[in-house]
Amino acid sequence: MKLIETANYETMSQKAAALVIQQVKSKPNTVLGLATGGTPVGMYQYLKEDYEQNQTSYQNVHTVNLDEYVGLSKEDPKSYAYYMKNHLFKHIHIPIEQTFLPAEEQGDKYEELIASLGGIDLQILGIGENGHIGFNEPGTPFASKTGIVQLAESTREANARYFSSMNEVPTHAISMGISTIMQSKNILLLVSGSKKAEILYRVLTEDVDESLPASILKTHPNVTIIADQDALSVL
Ligand code: GLP
Repeated sequence: MKLIETANYETMSQKAAALVIQQVKSKPNTVLGLATGGTPVGMYQYLKEDYEQNQTSYQNVHTVNLDEYVGLSKEDPKSYAYYMKNHLFKHIHIPIEQTFLPAEEQGDKYEELIASLGGIDLQILGIGENGHIGFNEPGTPFASKTGIVQLAESTREANARYFSSMNEVPTHAISMGISTIMQSKNILLLVSGSKKAEILYRVLTEDVDESLPASILKTHPNVTIIADQDALSVL
């Protein structure tokens, strides 16, 4: 596992965008695994700026997202489909039919889709305050595949900021499984802010265990963590 420390959120985002651009340039038909949440917003902003300045081509890129809420339509501004369109897809001229998010009725089909694309070249990840990756909460078997998952109350609370009330926060999501994530050729985990310092410390120092989903990443051969100083403040 490679750990890159950056001074702040901006430099973390810049560095992450640079790695994505490098990947897309070296393999124009790259399959990118994408994440949502607050953490990668800055990285997407830098990808947008790079596209405006350098026209990096995404014409042959395919994207597969980690997760989506159950019960929200694609047009719902709180859906991850909307988030991806708004933060990235509409800015980089990627053919929209080459972008995928898991859907409720899919399950195994999402696994087949990823396999038919040749697997994920680079998977971007954030981490939940409880150590979740995607929406795979503590206790999820490491062998899990894409499917419907129940959200932990703490995860619903952490995401309530995007909804007008806690009642509106979905109780379920569809998430790429942990084994699906682990099949990616390369993984880039972004961690920012003091709220994530404790969990990052635990991931780096504790044993690999299903009670701490992100700990499995330590067994993957090509993981890079980019963390800002605040996220590393407990180390
Ligand atoms: C969310 C998402 C994850 C994300 C994580 C952290 O619930 N499902 O994919 O990585 O929690 O989110 P944030 O970046 O907003 O802290």
